[in-house]
Amino acid sequence: MQTGDAKPDVLLETDQFYRGNCVPVMADWPPDCIDLTVTSPPYDTLRDYAGYSFDFAGIASELLRVTKPGGVVVWVVGEKINGGRSLTGFRQAIHFQDIGFVVHDVMIYQKKNTPFMRSNAYTNAYELMLILSKDGPPKTFNPLKVPTQRSGRELLTHNKLPDGVNKKKRGMLKREKTRTNIWPYAVGFGGTTTDRIAFQHPAVFPDRLAEEHILSWSNPGDLVLDPMCGSGTTCKMALLNNRRYIGIDIADEYIDIAEARIGAAMSRLAGLE
Ligand SMILES: C[S@@+](CC[C@H](N)C(=O)[O-])C[C@H]1O[C@@H](n2cnc3c(N)ncnc32)[C@H](O)[C@@H]1O
Repeated sequence: MQTGDAKPDVLLETDQFYRGNCVPVMADWPPDCIDLTVTSPPYDTLRDYAGYSFDFAGIASELLRVTKPGGVVVWVVGEKINGGRSLTGFRQAIHFQDIGFVVHDVMIYQKKNTPFMRSNAYTNAYELMLILSKDGPPKTFNPLKVPTQRSGRELLTHNKLPDGVNKKKRGMLKREKTRTNIWPYAVGFGGTTTDRIAFQHPAVFPDRLAEEHILSWSNPGDLVLDPMCGSGTTCKMALLNNRRYIGIDIADEYIDIAEARIGAAMSRLAGLE
């Protein structure tokens, strides 16, 4: 039952896209309803996203409100470099912290191949991935592992003891270890994605980047949001990994691309392709 000025409860419809400005769209939702957001905002004036601008502070405060306690926001951000770096990602990280998010980590999205050369500086080959959590550390962390170079029992170098002799001891080397927070991806067709239609959007992030965050910070059945979903990469990878999703974009033409990608992914899941 509603009293006074309270908004009526809105049943959150999942596994769909919303067309519009994400700030008022999210403002209609109840608090604490999203497990994980994986998103990437427009980057300074680097690209023209069908002419739309965005309200960073409004998006940040709505994301804080709709994220569940212990939920995570992955914010992938590049910046303008000509004429000195804009430091947008750093400014945004500080703003997120100022409004109450925990800046759990600052990870690096390393681009293994990048065409953006600078004549007077080293070629920029990374973007920041801010890992923000609400009301404490992430409620879910499924660390991704990589194989170690060697494994099994072997002589390990031991620190020097007080007698000054560097003794070696037998120890067990593990088969795998947790990855570092620098994640490298090839970009372009085949690296970013093999969905040709995605490249009708000017700034797609890699399928695998979205997938690896989804696997790390959520569990099957969780609700994954991308409030600026562009070509729908996060939503597609959520679907393929048995999570529920919601995508929002202000540009109709990008939602059309996202819906086409989801349709193709559903056909793949149904074994039709
Ligand atoms: C960097 S792109 C996201 C690309 C996406 N990660 C992908 O893989 O395709 C940023 C997107 O934000 C959208 N956008 C900008 N302002 C918005 C707003 N206020 N609400 C919703 N979407 C917005 C743009 O239309 C653009 O598609």
